Amino acid sequence: MVNVIFCGFGEGMDKRVFAKQGDLLLRVAVNNGVVIPTECKDGMCGSCAVRVEEIGTAPDSDDTQSKIDPDGWDKNKYTTYMEDKELNTLVEMGAISKLEAESAQQYAQQTPVRLACQCIIKGPLLVKPFE
Ligand code: FES
Repeated sequence: MVNVIFCGFGEGMDKRVFAKQGDLLLRVAVNNGVVIPTECKDGMCGSCAVRVEEIGTAPDSDDTQSKIDPDGWDKNKYTTYMEDKELNTLVEMGAISKLEAESAQQYAQQTPVRLACQCIIKGPLLVKPFE
């Protein structure tokens, strides 16, 4: 179980909940009364976009060395595979740059904006609305 903190979603929806690794972020939100707008639930419309921040460090990270490589790989981030569909939607809606999408693919790391209907929880997360 990992912590997922929802912050900025409105009265009564800012909370810390526990989620299973591998669970879908949107399902965790719904099951805990946090409202995230949705339309397609298939990674196409972008209405469920949220800002995500990994909290804590990946289990195998080494804090004694630099956290971020010069080329953008952050060893403290969890390995997260994002589908092309999600990355394309995020780029089309201007939530991330094409470079961020390419870097996410290359290093298997998630972007700072995710689609809740596509986001598999890998570790502790801070989740905020995308505005
Ligand atoms: S609900 Fe449409 S992309 Fe998530």
